Amino acid sequence: MQLTQDIIVRKVRKSRISEVDFSKLEFGKYTSDHMLVCDYYDGEWQTPQLVPFANLSLSPTTLALHYGQSVFEGMKAFRMKDGAINIFRTEKHYERLVKSLERMCMQVPPKEVFMEGLMELVKLDNAWVPGEAGASLYIRPFVFASEAKYGVKVADEYRFIIFSGPVGTYYAKPLRVKVEREFIRAAKGGTGYAKCAGNYGGAFYPTQLARENGFDQVLWTDARENKYIEESGTMNVMFVIDGKLITPALSDSILDGVTRDSLIQLAKERGVEVEERRISTDELESAFRNNLITEAFGAGTAAVVAPINLIHIDGVDYKLPFYTVNSLMNQLKQQLEDIRTGRVADVHGWNCKI
Ligand code: COI
Repeated sequence: MQLTQDIIVRKVRKSRISEVDFSKLEFGKYTSDHMLVCDYYDGEWQTPQLVPFANLSLSPTTLALHYGQSVFEGMKAFRMKDGAINIFRTEKHYERLVKSLERMCMQVPPKEVFMEGLMELVKLDNAWVPGEAGASLYIRPFVFASEAKYGVKVADEYRFIIFSGPVGTYYAKPLRVKVEREFIRAAKGGTGYAKCAGNYGGAFYPTQLARENGFDQVLWTDARENKYIEESGTMNVMFVIDGKLITPALSDSILDGVTRDSLIQLAKERGVEVEERRISTDELESAFRNNLITEAFGAGTAAVVAPINLIHIDGVDYKLPFYTVNSLMNQLKQQLEDIRTGRVADVHGWNCKI
């Protein structure tokens, strides 16, 4: 399919960009001028359209609203040193979208629709990609069951949308996290590895309780024994213990984070010993008691690298030391930023320059 020619484009009459204060970007507040929309019905994906960002009109019986067939991705585009724009790791994001959609029994938008739609959207809204340090254009591709029918069934109609918006830092300060032993996020055989809407909705209540008790996020443990660390809120989690970078191994209850994957590769290339394995709360407590744990942080597209300065385990607050620029976390964060903005060579082929 000659896709670039096929995308129907309807541009805004007047951009909303002057309404944005780029020095005070807040995650989730702004959307750029356009969005990509592509519908699936009659057994096929229809012609994608780039249209002004606008509300949707949906039937109250829309299947996704009742039975949760809704899956999303979170990606970022960066303003590079030379002024060009780079969308980071498009292939890996598409692969994960496919896995999530398959788990939720949903139709998969063709790769060329995803890739070209993404490129054309970001090209059209290129002025929205911020150049400020730490800022980026957050890109939210998502698919939901758009069929209007309230019988419980796999939908026959879907809508694929990509919208974007300029964002700054997700977490403004280091995080206080609480190890969660009562509630769970995901169980073996469940949907934990899929980026489906329900995983986030189900996390709100325990997170809200943790917030009421002075924590920013929960650190999920496994559903079977509530003993092994899984991930935290909106991100994967990593620890530096005895000089090694340790992170829970991927499983069907852990999201295969793109930032997680990138940091692991960068750490290994620096000669840091990386262990992807189970890590128990007992091991964490012992590492604190023996002063072996020097760093703890979250890794995610939105959060990038989010320092953790306190971990609450069974009523005890364990504090992490202050992180200097020489901490592994800060060095990896800087290297990632340098790759994405073209300040160092992209030897991994992660950048998709447009
Ligand atoms: C992301 O990091 O892109 C996420 O999707 C996490 C959150 C904003 C929902």
